[in-house]
Amino acid sequence: MGFPRGRRQFLRFLGAGFTGACAGGLGPLATTLAAAEPLLPFNAISPSSRDRLLLPPGFEYDVLAKWGDRLPGTNTRFGYNADFTAFIPLQGADEGLLVVNHEYVSLPEPGEIGVYSQTFPTVIGREPRLDDEMHDVGVSVLHVTRRKNGRWELTRSPLTRRYDAQSRMAVSGPALQTAGSVAGTLANCSGCHTPWNTVLTCEENFQDCVPEAVDTAGRGRSGGRFGGNSAHFGWVVEIDPLDPSWTPVKHTMLGRFRHENVAVRVRDDAPVVAYMGDDRTNGHVYRFVSERRYAPGRLDNRGSMLSRGRLYAAVFNRDGSGEWRELAPATPLRANPRSSVPALPRGATTLGQVYASPGAIVTDAFRASNLIGATPTGRPEDVEVHPLDQSVYIAFTAAATAPDHLFPNIYGEIWRIVEEGDGTGTRFTWMRWKAGGPHDARQSGRVFAAPDNLAFDRTGNLWIVTDISSSRINADARYTEFQNNGMFYVPTSGVDAGIARQFASAPCEAELAGPSWTPGRDTFFLSVQHPGEANGTRTSTMLSPRGSNWPSERPGDPPLPGVVSIRRE
Ligand code: FEO
Ligand code: CA
Ligand code: CA
Ligand code: CA
Repeated sequence: MGFPRGRRQFLRFLGAGFTGACAGGLGPLATTLAAAEPLLPFNAISPSSRDRLLLPPGFEYDVLAKWGDRLPGTNTRFGYNADFTAFIPLQGADEGLLVVNHEYVSLPEPGEIGVYSQTFPTVIGREPRLDDEMHDVGVSVLHVTRRKNGRWELTRSPLTRRYDAQSRMAVSGPALQTAGSVAGTLANCSGCHTPWNTVLTCEENFQDCVPEAVDTAGRGRSGGRFGGNSAHFGWVVEIDPLDPSWTPVKHTMLGRFRHENVAVRVRDDAPVVAYMGDDRTNGHVYRFVSERRYAPGRLDNRGSMLSRGRLYAAVFNRDGSGEWRELAPATPLRANPRSSVPALPRGATTLGQVYASPGAIVTDAFRASNLIGATPTGRPEDVEVHPLDQSVYIAFTAAATAPDHLFPNIYGEIWRIVEEGDGTGTRFTWMRWKAGGPHDARQSGRVFAAPDNLAFDRTGNLWIVTDISSSRINADARYTEFQNNGMFYVPTSGVDAGIARQFASAPCEAELAGPSWTPGRDTFFLSVQHPGEANGTRTSTMLSPRGSNWPSERPGDPPLPGVVSIRRE
């Protein structure tokens, strides 16, 4: 099945560094690649509440795939609520695999119509079943080619496939060792294209589908809408886009929590370092350091590079210093006040006296981190490693609520971390790099709220997409000036460092997500997630800005999440 083994191996050696998806460590290479970025320059757009994907003059987009589209050569369809994307080059500049996460389906929430259920009969032709929900989350692997007219299209291919909430997954690391394999991946939010050319997909709000709690032995319980076991979800999952025969692996050493994403930092002959955020109010920032040193080209990097190592949670001190505390049995207890923690055995002074095993500690990472005094934060979303200086940028999307917290800004902030030494020690410094809102008329179009995904281009400019929630957008007075969600460009150096300019505005009630580039940087992929999520199908333009008809823009047509390719006209 698929391409001959030799070709897949060759493609693996190409590695992901050339896409710069999430791997730091390009060093001097990045400097040589610092040619003009194809998205630059552009004329910034202003905030908008139009039901369109708006781009600066001179740019255009094509819808590459939208929910419900039959994937060529398969009996399966493109999933709902597209999120992270990663482009895996194949041969030449006009062929590749696009990996797309599908985070969740938009069911009715308080104040929302439940646009998935509302539009399902029109799009799929019948009423939705539970099986449909379980199929519309997970991951799509799309074989894409570029036509002579510059437009990318899906291609019939044995590599095109879906992973969903019922696909078989293997397990690595200290937890779930008796489970052998587990069923399904879900709540796939952001992710990472690894330097060894696999993709990491992160399970975020799994508690919407299965229970969340585990006990101090790391045991979960089954239930929720999907009937799955709580301990089986909330992990980082590795997929090999180039090898459909390889079973994806849930890497338990990277911890179990509401995994927004993972960003890896690599150097030859050094441990791989991975940064992660737990996107919940008062969630923590994490770091994994691999036991093995990275050797480019080793065939067994796949599946094993992240299987053994150490997991840490961040402590941010008020003076700008920071410390990584290990989630390990010997770590002393210093519980956060009024935080979620398990019952403590009498006289317990270390994590090992609370939890039955190292696997149980990483399975209950949020509560274990509270026990060792890790800092509660303002919902860490994406984390990225700067391609030139290796510093780490974290998007905190909202305020925290924990006692005496460091996150008062309801519009979110982007922080920058600089590790001490080679990044495998326990000390770092941090700074508030860029604050979100409130809206400032003197900076029209230059202010954002609720930063979510981040992406660096090769020259170290930061691209930020925002996720003001569907219940607040164009409705909550504190957020109305921002209008629809958008995408912003913020240089990290030069005279414009720290100044945001808006590049894109999303359709109504949508967020933009998963920015990624082709290696030649001539195409930019972006997900349009949950258009019309609060008010569903717009039946008349008079209802603006409530509801959506994206992408057709015809009143009465169902709004459809999807992924687009963006290029210069
Ligand atoms: Fe899935 Fe935290 O965004
Ligand atoms: Ca996100
Ligand atoms: Ca990212
Ligand atoms: Ca989001």
